[in-house]
Amino acid sequence: MRKLVYFIAVSIDGFIAGPDGSDPTGPDGFWPVAQDYVQHLAQTYPETLPAPARQALGVTTEGSCFDTVLEGRRTYMNGVDAGFTDCYPHLKHYVFSRTLTDSPDPGVELVTTDPVAKVRELKREDGKDIWLCGGGELAGALRGEIDRLVVKLAPMTLGSGTPLFSHKTAFEPTLYDRTDAVVLDSGTVFLTYDKKAQGGA
Ligand SMILES: NC(=O)c1ccc[n+]([C@@H]2O[C@H](COP(=O)([O-])OP(=O)(O)OC[C@H]3O[C@@H](n4cnc5c(N)ncnc54)[C@H](OP(=O)(O)O)[C@@H]3O)[C@@H](O)[C@H]2O)c1
Repeated sequence: MRKLVYFIAVSIDGFIAGPDGSDPTGPDGFWPVAQDYVQHLAQTYPETLPAPARQALGVTTEGSCFDTVLEGRRTYMNGVDAGFTDCYPHLKHYVFSRTLTDSPDPGVELVTTDPVAKVRELKREDGKDIWLCGGGELAGALRGEIDRLVVKLAPMTLGSGTPLFSHKTAFEPTLYDRTDAVVLDSGTVFLTYDKKAQGGA
């Protein structure tokens, strides 16, 4: 069965963005984006680059990991506010919201029902893995469905901000096996963790 993979950039102290919910890697963002980081994404996870970046870098490859991306409404709206109603036209794109009534783009499917039920339905379909893009609130709602985490650990602390999982997420210790680690010269570490099989040591 295809996996739900939370593929996410995170600071050492567990934040994925600042407190104001803006895009930390946008033009006015504070999150450093090093050349070797972009190169690693382009080579290994090209489908996770948004369309404007793919175009600027001349990336046209499909990528082998994901064919579907899930975003919470606040993460999605950062792209809309920057002028892009579909940052991932090369993927099946779902946005979760209880307040939006129409999708701003025909390539983006709005999901107003339970995210867990939707993810279970998507997992039963054939295809590549499903990229949970974020943010922390949607990831909190889907935490029990996450099969793999790919954490892009940035050499930075923030002090406060948007957590990896919303503070509303239930306390439920969950164990993972580390299955990959790639250290970039610029300091970011790509860490892959697979959820331990239930009953596993
Ligand atoms: N570091 C990274 O790699 C990375 C990746 C992605 C995002 N981010 C950052 O994360 C921040 C946004 O994260 P966030 O946690 O504030 O928000 P979010 O998870 O992106 O979006 C939250 C919204 O998603 C909808 N939602 C969440 N749970 C739901 C549920 N159970 N059922 C239905 N809808 C649900 C709700 O929309 P409605 O209010 O419309 O109901 C909710 O307000 C931004 O700053 C973004 O730039 C960082």
